[in-house]
Amino acid sequence: MSKSESHLDVRTTLKQGLAQLREAHVPSFTLAAELLLLYVLGRDRTWLYAHPEEQLSTADADRFLKLIARRANGEPSQHLTGKQEFWGLEFEVTPDVLIPRPETEHLIEVALDRLALRELRSGRKQTFTGEGLQIADIGTGSGCIAIAMAKELPGATIYASDISAAALAVANRNATRHSVSDRIHFVESNLLDGLTAMRAANSTVSAVGTQREHRSRLLDLIVSNPPYIGRRESEMLMREVRDHEPEIALYGGEEGYELYADLVTQSAAHLKPGGIFVLELGHNSLPAVQPLLDAPNWTNVAVTNDLAGIPRVLAAERL
Ligand SMILES: C[S@@+](CC[C@H](N)C(=O)[O-])C[C@H]1O[C@@H](n2cnc3c(N)ncnc32)[C@H](O)[C@@H]1O
Repeated sequence: MSKSESHLDVRTTLKQGLAQLREAHVPSFTLAAELLLLYVLGRDRTWLYAHPEEQLSTADADRFLKLIARRANGEPSQHLTGKQEFWGLEFEVTPDVLIPRPETEHLIEVALDRLALRELRSGRKQTFTGEGLQIADIGTGSGCIAIAMAKELPGATIYASDISAAALAVANRNATRHSVSDRIHFVESNLLDGLTAMRAANSTVSAVGTQREHRSRLLDLIVSNPPYIGRRESEMLMREVRDHEPEIALYGGEEGYELYADLVTQSAAHLKPGGIFVLELGHNSLPAVQPLLDAPNWTNVAVTNDLAGIPRVLAAERL
């Protein structure tokens, strides 16, 4: 082995990468360096530790060190690898969408629990496929919530809205990747504005003879992780978030909670009696949002904390 080649073994290259990330104060720098090397080599972690002496090609080492430099400069690892896992599924992510966060999985857990409880109460069948359910995901971004719900509930139809056409393009690709694109209808819309027309076009439900309000109240479940960070908090965000994730996905307004009022009002107009509403909350949104779910429209309001003990999910049932 020549001297120049000896620089290019797995262990040395990895060490070099993680030293650069440490110096740049990148959080979890060891994990980040490993992830980028695995991505470049197309290997898994077991391989990495079983082959520390393996020689890298100059091209792979160069590619890795370029990614390290970008990561050190603040780009999130997910933008470099183009993917993030959520609910056990791999999602394409680009700078046009929010990177799915683990705490958002609580939203899905709460939604599935509430639906199961509703089935139990109504004495319907044990195996729950969500047959006939109409669900909406508002602010779908990468599509992670809508797609996870579609996988869990193969009998459900899902409407997913976003105000960003660029995000919807990513969500569409993710739905195709996970073979659920035939059951998710994506709509470019401000909150639920675009849903009425789209549902009317797709719905097989006859509403003849019902009152006007009830004609539009056909959804069984609405889930949403809206933008909820306050612009006044932007300086406190990590640079990976502030400088690289889309502003439209992050900020709900100056305070952060501004979108919730319209979201609650519109959801009340679209949910069936007994329909379920599940919202993700910002770390300090609860006091502003919970009062929006007071009677007479809502019942069974409950808050679920995330693993850090932060009130993260607010759920309610439409009367
Ligand atoms: C916090 S991100 C959530 C993305 C994804 N649902 C998730 O959980 O990872 C909020 C999403 O809402 C979208 N959005 C922002 N304002 C909106 C509005 N007024 N109507 C619809 N979508 C909106 C953004 O484009 C973004 O994709």
